[in-house]
Amino acid sequence: MFSLPLHDDARLAPLEVRHAEEFAEHLDRAREHIRPWVGPGFVTEDVGGARATLERYAQRQAADGARLYGIWWNGSLVGGVMFTDFDAAVGSCELGCWLEPSAEGHGLVTRACAALLEWAFTTRKLHRAEWHCRADNDHSSAVAKRLGMTLEGVRREAWPYQGTRYDKQLWAVLAPEWQSTGR
Ligand SMILES: CC(C)(COP(=O)(O)OP(=O)(O)OC[C@H]1O[C@@H](n2cnc3c(N)ncnc32)[C@H](O)[C@@H]1OP(=O)(O)O)[C@@H](O)C(=O)NCCC(=O)NCCS
Repeated sequence: MFSLPLHDDARLAPLEVRHAEEFAEHLDRAREHIRPWVGPGFVTEDVGGARATLERYAQRQAADGARLYGIWWNGSLVGGVMFTDFDAAVGSCELGCWLEPSAEGHGLVTRACAALLEWAFTTRKLHRAEWHCRADNDHSSAVAKRLGMTLEGVRREAWPYQGTRYDKQLWAVLAPEWQSTGR
């Protein structure tokens, strides 16, 4: 499969059903790190669960919906980015992301999300891209800021996790804003 270089040793490529075992091994390294911050359905416990996630995304991609991409760094799957939602008719999408701890702090996710936004806005002519995160997820909101997104609002106590309800931020960037950043 074709892949997009993110920098010298990192590449972005579709994360597909055939990667189920590799994805499950990666989740063993990432699970507890990402659990508080991502949807519970994404945090699976074994190869069967990992494969089910990949199959779900494959089915949605076949309908021109959600899409999933892995980030390989020095040959190892270390995280990824996705369109958690993609609606060409409405002209809107939502991005998501995750990394295992060893891959944080290198700009991998910002670069990968920029590639997705470029495709969504330029190739697919979408108008709006959203980013949803727990309001106390500073690493995630920093990515949204680096991508030129605007904080549009807070859905109060909309994110239940282990008996507590957290606020959820909604960030977005529009096509003309993305073009004006010159990326
Ligand atoms: C959210 C998450 C993916 C962000 O990871 P991240 O490594 O901070 O993000 P990036 O890959 O874009 O890297 C940015 C970091 O690399 C640094 N960096 C180095 N080179 C860079 C470059 N060329 N471009 C951008 N940043 C660069 C930045 O300064 C920043 O580091 P800092 O936070 O110390 O300032 C990660 O924290 C994570 O997986 N968290 C748990 C799951 C999660 O929250 N997912 C999102 C749900 S909404």
